[in-house]
Amino acid sequence: MDWDAAQYGLGLEEMDGTHREFVALVHALQTADHDNFVFLFQKLLEHTRLHFVEEGRLMRLYKFPALAEHEGEHHRVYGDLLQFNRNVRNGRLALARAYVKDGLSEWFKLHVGSMDSALAAHILRSQEEGFAIEGLVQIGL
Ligand SMILES: [Fe+2]
Ligand SMILES: [Fe+2]
Repeated sequence: MDWDAAQYGLGLEEMDGTHREFVALVHALQTADHDNFVFLFQKLLEHTRLHFVEEGRLMRLYKFPALAEHEGEHHRVYGDLLQFNRNVRNGRLALARAYVKDGLSEWFKLHVGSMDSALAAHILRSQEEGFAIEGLVQIGL
């Protein structure tokens, strides 16, 4: 899996930066040997936790209407990662390797194109409205 700005870029650096790191981690996992896989999977778990916490913060800050649906999806995926991690920590990598190769990268493509892109569009719209209102205040309207 490689970063593709045209496919994954949302035009909001706060989210794109995290997504670039996520793709780099998934890429590294896809080619990792046994020990590196175990190490990188722990990194992926922590990175994903923070990724979802940060999006949750943005959703609340910008009053994103589909918060419950989006966070439900995050919780589902994080729960899956925790499940796979039980195997990984016991040295059983086959299922986690298959998940990282197919399930997780497919999920990311879908999620970025739907829920994350809706969130980024909502934030960018809110920021533009905010600037417009600030502009009116500045000219005394
Ligand atoms: Fe995301
Ligand atoms: Fe998300």
